[in-house]
Amino acid sequence: MAWDNVLLEKDGVVGVVTVNRPKALNALNGDTLTEIGLAFDEVAKDDEIKVVILTGAGDKAFVAGADILSMQKMTPMESKAFSLLGQQVMSKIETFQKPVIAAINGFTLGGGCELAMCCDIRIATPKSMFGQPEVGLGIIPGFAGTQRLPRLIGKGRAKELIFSAANINAEEAYRIGLINKVVEEDQLMAEAKKMAGKIASKGQIAVRLAKEAINEGMEMDLDKAMIHEADLFGLCFSTEEQREGMTAFIEKRPAKFTGK
Ligand code: CAA
Repeated sequence: MAWDNVLLEKDGVVGVVTVNRPKALNALNGDTLTEIGLAFDEVAKDDEIKVVILTGAGDKAFVAGADILSMQKMTPMESKAFSLLGQQVMSKIETFQKPVIAAINGFTLGGGCELAMCCDIRIATPKSMFGQPEVGLGIIPGFAGTQRLPRLIGKGRAKELIFSAANINAEEAYRIGLINKVVEEDQLMAEAKKMAGKIASKGQIAVRLAKEAINEGMEMDLDKAMIHEADLFGLCFSTEEQREGMTAFIEKRPAKFTGK
């Protein structure tokens, strides 16, 4: 499926969502944000898709930020609405019921870094560059970067990156935990699909509940988060996946999960 700025393709159990504005380094204008949301809505309806890969078209950028041309003349109310739209799309991805892997090849700046951060796992190529350049434009990150970056890499490093507007390379991004893995450019999609395949072979309800436990638990105090985990752990025992997974272990055979 295709919209003006976003593509959705399917490769077996993997859905690939591509931000497709390579001439503007895949910068996020309002239409592109809306279309990313629509693509994820389509993926949600497709039971065959178990894992999503989010990537950027072309060989220069994942996403080089929110679209500066479209923001230049915005009023305060328009820019607030733009920020809320971006935040909604990022939250939709973060809480999406299927795991989302960002496959990153190039500039991942501002809104692009924010988009990558709402994915569950980030794989990048050595030439990729990361940063939150907003203060250099006289603004702050507006798609939840001031919130997700400190949660991901810690407050001190997040402040350094945001206040300095400095770009960092993939090696440094890996070192500080902003990305999970660095792979050669010609291996990027293969690696992302390999990881997607590995996840897709497991119990899908269990993966979904693990995502929920991590995401929601991180926003709670530890005692409440552990009770939440115990509730979700208990819920696993209502699934066929739990019966199949444990029976398969005891029978010394691979589990055949059905997503039920
Ligand atoms: N918005 C709109 N257009 C953009 C863009 C952006 N964020 N980033 C790149 N482009 C466009 C350029 O204007 C250029 O278009 P033209 O060919 O029509 O001139 C095209 O993409 C190619 O870009 P460059 O010629 O600049 O390519 P380069 O290789 O010389 O530089 C770059 C690459 C360092 C990424 C540079 O393009 C750049 O600095 N981009 C802006 C990065 C940025 O500041 N992002 C943050 C935006 S603010 C934000 O995201 C706010 C938020 O949190 C919501």
